[in-house]
Amino acid sequence: MTALVAYATHSGATRTLAVTLAGSLREAGLACDLVDIADGPDPASYNAVVLGSGVRIESIEKSAASWAETHAEVLAERPFAFFSCSGSASDPKKAGKQKATDAFLATLTRDPVAVANFPGWVLMDRIPLHERVLLKSMRTPTGDFRDLPAVAAWGREIAPLLRG
Ligand SMILES: Cc1cc2nc3c(=O)[nH]c(=O)nc-3n(C[C@H](O)[C@H](O)[C@H](O)COP(=O)(O)O)c2cc1C
Repeated sequence: MTALVAYATHSGATRTLAVTLAGSLREAGLACDLVDIADGPDPASYNAVVLGSGVRIESIEKSAASWAETHAEVLAERPFAFFSCSGSASDPKKAGKQKATDAFLATLTRDPVAVANFPGWVLMDRIPLHERVLLKSMRTPTGDFRDLPAVAAWGREIAPLLRG
């Protein structure tokens, strides 16, 4: 069986999480393809699917949401897992709660087999000027908050669930 790890990213953090996840799934014995959502992967060609998306203004990336909507039936028919990558997941007070994820999950016809909200990075040199202004006005903490070992551990945890 082969799993698809599809990701939507704006400043690159979600891609690095997806790379780590795919590596962990492979180590757990699962063949998997890692594909940017911008390249239009076809989930029907896979036995299981993981979608990862960055969070912007309390929503997952539009490209991820519309891909999931387009392929809703296919995703509902096979093991499907979702993870978000955000700034707020680095805040212990907000950990485990992600409005963007909850809003996305509400659009699905079937609950995913696994869901996780991981911290990403907020690096000013990776985002356009107008967004820097917005983040500064919101006093968003900046830095690299990724926890790649936690992503790898999640991969080991969900591998059996993706096998179905
Ligand atoms: C314009 C903008 C808006 C953002 N809005 C949110 C938000 O609403 N909630 C949050 O937790 N993080 C927010 N972030 C932080 C991103 O989720 C974080 O940088 C994440 O790593 C982005 O993933 P990506 O690099 O894959 O695009 C925002 C970042 C930018 C640039």
